[in-house]
Amino acid sequence: MAVTFPEGFFWGGATAANQFEGAWDVDGRGPSVDDHFTGGSYERPREITIDIKPDLLYPNHDGIDFYHRYAEDIALFAEMGFTMFRMSISWSRIFPTGMEDEPNEAGLAFYDRVFDECKKHGIEPLVTLSHYEMPYALVEKYNGWEGRELIDLFVKYCATVFERYKDKVTYWLTFNEINCGATDMGNLFETSMIRGFEGPASEAKTTAQQRFQALHHQFVASGRVVRLAHEKYPQFKMGNMDCFILSYPATCDPKDILLNQANMREMNWYCSDVQVRGSYPSYARRYWREHGVELAIADGDLDDIAAGKVDFYTFSYYMSNIVGTHDVEQTSGNMTFGGVNPYLESTEWGWQIDPDGLRYALNEIYDRYQIPLMVVENGMGARDEAVVEDGEKRVHDDYRIEYLKKHVRAMGEAVDDGVDLIGYTWWGPIDLVSAGTGEMRKRYGFIYVDKHDDGTGTYERIRKDSFFAYQKIMKSNGAEG
Ligand code: BG6
Repeated sequence: MAVTFPEGFFWGGATAANQFEGAWDVDGRGPSVDDHFTGGSYERPREITIDIKPDLLYPNHDGIDFYHRYAEDIALFAEMGFTMFRMSISWSRIFPTGMEDEPNEAGLAFYDRVFDECKKHGIEPLVTLSHYEMPYALVEKYNGWEGRELIDLFVKYCATVFERYKDKVTYWLTFNEINCGATDMGNLFETSMIRGFEGPASEAKTTAQQRFQALHHQFVASGRVVRLAHEKYPQFKMGNMDCFILSYPATCDPKDILLNQANMREMNWYCSDVQVRGSYPSYARRYWREHGVELAIADGDLDDIAAGKVDFYTFSYYMSNIVGTHDVEQTSGNMTFGGVNPYLESTEWGWQIDPDGLRYALNEIYDRYQIPLMVVENGMGARDEAVVEDGEKRVHDDYRIEYLKKHVRAMGEAVDDGVDLIGYTWWGPIDLVSAGTGEMRKRYGFIYVDKHDDGTGTYERIRKDSFFAYQKIMKSNGAEG
């Protein structure tokens, strides 16, 4: 039986400003955190430098040059059949240091052009307000989200873009993968607490106290922004965004079951419980105690969080893992967590591929929250080669097509299970810079970009075989998956 998706289901792709816009110092933009990360690889972590060093390569500086090629790229998305395009706004394009009183008009005008182009093609934008970046000046002054001052600065930035784009954007997400802020690796991107740090990204460490306090500041900021949106722009739909890393107990030993429950709370539920239900979950108190955390909660913070309940829940889904109290072999990929599941295959970067897990996750999330869901990232990073055949450039990526189809089918099953799923945006529909490794070689796109890890390339865009496979899926609203 063919899967059926609801009428008006959003199909599309997801990107992040710092990983694909490029033009890092153009038209008044200020440096963002990611501009201080060099390229790395699976084996070699990205380096963080305080100053920009002329002899090093910083891949985010040029990204894939969407800043100058947005019209061509959006036309390609439209040709594929997108009805939704997830993108983020670069905070430092709007407020170069985050601390100015007035926004940078050239930065605002750029996103006007992007949204107008989307409209021209009937594509609905889904905008992430903070996707793994902030003005670097806020790192230097406040150590990122460790500083409570960031709450007001973030609200000012959001209020500015809400007012400017109120007639062009309806769907907004506050923080990308906010729950990554709870982990050492993720918090580099999420909370940017790297003031004064220079060296391999894997060696930048924070304490649990810092991480949970920073997260608290983000919850308050998110709450205030959602409240502002609901009060002033009732047409807006506000969402959260979690990095959903599903884990299974390694055995049926009750100790493994308990460990997995704790792991699922820590990794997945802690943040979304706050943002969907509007309060810290019942298990938070014990959790803070066991991590030696004492949160500073100011008057009014819990009211802001309570007022900031999101309208829909969104998440990224790439992989699953196992946890257990017995011998569990640990995964060794970049940005992976947990143990190896012998029933699953992995990508070259060690991410375990689990489409059934997506169906399971959708059911678990919907059971818990009963609000509309969107899968706003899912995808497969792989090495692709552009080859010339019959005088034309092609990229054959059957592995990606297989990954895509299996995950679409899994979503179809979840819809059939009764889950209120309203959209799907594939991560990196056009090749872009990897967040974890800084590579171009880890490609997710349906559109190949001729840019390489050494910075060379023409930036030419080439349709991959998966471009046409996704086109078919979208045209048939998921039936031809
Ligand atoms: C998600 C992030 O975690 O995964 C993206 O939101 C990121 O920014 C994506 O690019 C894939 O990770 P990576 O390391 O392969 O780029």
